[in-house]
Amino acid sequence: MNTNTKLRTRSREYFARAQQSLVEGVNSPSRGAAVYSSGPVVLERGRGSRVWDVDGNEFVDFMMSFGALIQGHAHPKIVEGVSKSVGEGSHFAAATPAEAEAAEHFCRMVPTAEVVRFANTGSEATMLALRLARAHTGRTKFLKFEGHYHGWYDPYCLNGHSHPVAQLGPPEHPTKIPDSEGIPSSVFEDVIVAPWNDLPALEGTLRQHGRELAAIITEPIMANMGCIPPAERYLQAVCDLAHQYGALFILDEVVTGFRYAPGGCQQLFNLRPDLATFGKALGAGFPIGAVAGSRNILDRMRWSEHMVLHYGTFNGHRLTMNVVAANLDLLSAEGAYRQLFAIGDAAIAGLRAIFRRRGIRAIVQGFGPMFQIYFTELDAVRNYRDYCAHVDTGKYSRFVHHLLEHGIYMTPSNGLHWIISTAHTEQDVEALLGAADQACAQLA
Ligand SMILES: Cc1ncc(COP(=O)(O)O)c(C=O)c1O
Repeated sequence: MNTNTKLRTRSREYFARAQQSLVEGVNSPSRGAAVYSSGPVVLERGRGSRVWDVDGNEFVDFMMSFGALIQGHAHPKIVEGVSKSVGEGSHFAAATPAEAEAAEHFCRMVPTAEVVRFANTGSEATMLALRLARAHTGRTKFLKFEGHYHGWYDPYCLNGHSHPVAQLGPPEHPTKIPDSEGIPSSVFEDVIVAPWNDLPALEGTLRQHGRELAAIITEPIMANMGCIPPAERYLQAVCDLAHQYGALFILDEVVTGFRYAPGGCQQLFNLRPDLATFGKALGAGFPIGAVAGSRNILDRMRWSEHMVLHYGTFNGHRLTMNVVAANLDLLSAEGAYRQLFAIGDAAIAGLRAIFRRRGIRAIVQGFGPMFQIYFTELDAVRNYRDYCAHVDTGKYSRFVHHLLEHGIYMTPSNGLHWIISTAHTEQDVEALLGAADQACAQLA
């Protein structure tokens, strides 16, 4: 493996060229110069756990398409399914056996999925879940937590980025901070924001607003401020509180779904969300979103004068449905999750040992297939405010830029997280630890 990945001549050329015709030279800011200080590594191909850039440098990929590639790159079974589907006609926007097969797999694996509706992205899924919740309850407002990201639909774009703590307002009544221009402020009148992992604060907010809420939406493990697990029994308490006030409990499993267990975090933490949303790992690299839950809620989409509208030319895309079925088949195999956890836990333990040995104040948070490194004095990052106040995101960025020089591909954004796919091996963990040791030396 080529570990000298410093030569980036062609990456720089492509990036310069792309900036002529694409905003910031990319299609999402997190892929460009906002995050990669000398411009992005421009990738050309991938196989298994590895990717190659346009200069021919090889990397072990721990970003895995922001978690979409649970089977790694170009898994033979996925490639075979896609090739066959394309040859037969990729999509008909009509009823197909492929969508029924994908849905059956899905409903077998996700405990609360009586039925599922497929869309094309996680953002579409969370958008639909909110519309369903509003229709089902006849209420308009909903509650989201600070630092949670649910896609880019207008009402979700609040308090999703990190900010100086002085701007955040009191935890029991956070200041609403829009993540985007172009959203009417009236949209945010229907959004209640609360701190996460803080039950007393939530109880206080619900005493004030609970009866107005259509839903409480939460990520089960905070995945957009790195990787922050819930406090013991916290999620069950949130679910119970939502129900106490007549609101639905929406579990946004776009990141965690099919990653932590065949049935996602609802299975791992034994939760019964009214609606759950999925994306990323479900599609093994193909665009997908899904909403699942009880039939009496999803049936509101049935054609009628009072239906919940959900259209989409590409819903249940035939090619993707074949990928979903093949992917879920692979994930149902005996030992698939044991392997994901073993590799992830080995990486986590190895990184912790390196930071300890090198005397660097850093924690590695998370478990199994997803984790994040925080350069912090804290023993644990428990919520958004800890992240905003105590995490040295600049140091993390420098650390990851060094890793990139040593053949590890990862985003320098501390808000994201390390991903283990079924393609990762012990050798990949060794490569990571070797690179991390060198990066630590360069940090000092
Ligand atoms: C928890 C969560 N929900 C929803 C989304 C939106 O998914 P997509 O990017 O597929 O629209 C994301 C994306 O990162 C996410 O992390």
